[in-house]
Amino acid sequence: MKQLSMAVLIAAALAVVPVHAQQGDPEAGQAVYAAKMCGMCHTIAGESGPMADLGGSLDDVGLRRDAAWLHLYLTEPKAAIADATMPCAALTEQELADLIAYLLTLRGSSGSD
Ligand code: HEC
Repeated sequence: MKQLSMAVLIAAALAVVPVHAQQGDPEAGQAVYAAKMCGMCHTIAGESGPMADLGGSLDDVGLRRDAAWLHLYLTEPKAAIADATMPCAALTEQELADLIAYLLTLRGSSGSD
């Protein structure tokens, strides 16, 4: 009986851990976008970097892509786009989750139109 309750406790503890892990925060993701220099090659809301022609606009990327695709592309670009040329940024799981949450907010309604 004692062993059983121990097993139940362990199982309960294991089950709790992943539940609130990697909840993406769009605001933190915006900071990651800036810190990882994504803006070098991309344009968001009219803000573009010196090589913006390379990556193009991400203004409506939240309409065109979903979280699963973004996760794949940002961790293994060539698995998502066979001839991908974008460099793979070194991101922690949390940074990745935040970045994806931010990218999913980009739905084409960036101010004046
Ligand atoms: C050196 C230039 C460069 C940098 C830096 C860069 N990208 Fe890109 N990005 C590209 C290019 C080029 C593409 C087009 C697809 C390809 O060739 O990989 C692309 C495509 C994308 C796409 C897919 C867009 C679509 O229309 O589906 C996303 C999302 C993206 N980049 C996000 C990011 C994020 C987030 C960062 C920062 C971690 C970043 N990029 C940094 C060059 C860059």
